[in-house]
Amino acid sequence: MDKRTVIVKVPGSTANLGPGFDSLGMALSLYAWIEMSESSQTVFHLHGDQLKGLPQDKSNLLYKVAQLVFKEAGVVVPELAISMYSEIPLTRGLGSSASAIVGALVAANALIGSPLTQDKLFQIATELEGHPDNVGASLFGGIVVSAWDGKHADYVRLEPHQRLETLVAIPAFQLSTEKARHALPSQISMADAVFNVGRSSLLVAALASGELGLIRHAMQDRLHQPYRAALIPGMTTILERAAEHGALGAALSGAGPTLIAFADAASGGKAELEQFLLQTLKQEGIEAQTLWLAPCGDGAQVSEVSSEQRAIPFMDRIRGEVTA
Ligand code: HSE
Repeated sequence: MDKRTVIVKVPGSTANLGPGFDSLGMALSLYAWIEMSESSQTVFHLHGDQLKGLPQDKSNLLYKVAQLVFKEAGVVVPELAISMYSEIPLTRGLGSSASAIVGALVAANALIGSPLTQDKLFQIATELEGHPDNVGASLFGGIVVSAWDGKHADYVRLEPHQRLETLVAIPAFQLSTEKARHALPSQISMADAVFNVGRSSLLVAALASGELGLIRHAMQDRLHQPYRAALIPGMTTILERAAEHGALGAALSGAGPTLIAFADAASGGKAELEQFLLQTLKQEGIEAQTLWLAPCGDGAQVSEVSSEQRAIPFMDRIRGEVTA
């Protein structure tokens, strides 16, 4: 096998989109970059605040995920050089762990000549993450509708509407997915199940057909958001009133704590919506950062790094692409 270096640019994502708990995801224009090459000994170059404190030995998630690919493909690549930079905030509900899993899977597969199909990578990623929503969006880009039965995940990718954009309000506190999943009941009523089936189906149809005006009604949920509200003060007000301030709809992003409002790029009032989100959180004593993010049509993008490019430091090479 020739010694190659590959780099993967992978988008973060928002999961659930309100009613589509564990099944809907959308890639966002916030990225992580993972570079990987075969090496004489395993070394890590983890750049940026988001990755501080992560293990830099073979217990690192990127290394372990890469080894799963090699095992599945029947090849042995025990030592790796791995560089990573991420602008996706950790444990905020923007798919940082999914982007790391997908980035490592795609990079490791490319390193050995891509013997595994995209679908196989999706199956592995879903199993690792425990649900397909964030990993599907990071891998395929766009809006991904998926269902997993614990063994196999099926999916359909939708192209996001050209005028769709999002505003995320990222609170200054972290919330682990584990804690946010613990807040959920083990059973729900038939009425709530029917409520969500209707909203989720309507949302997918609205997103697929471009009927953006339906998002407001379709983005309602009774499966997870009401139970998580206590963990994110201000969330209920934002979800109920964002449309009055110009949003097409609003949801908790993944397991939170980030809140996401959907907007029509053709309508004005961006500043008002931003103020509403920030003020509502501030009234609860929560500082937050807002970012306008576009849906990202591309999933994980892999490219080969030439020996000339390798002479330039990793961060210098990606600097022009970093946005956040
Ligand atoms: N669907 C997941 C949840 C996304 O809401 O818990 C977070 O990983």
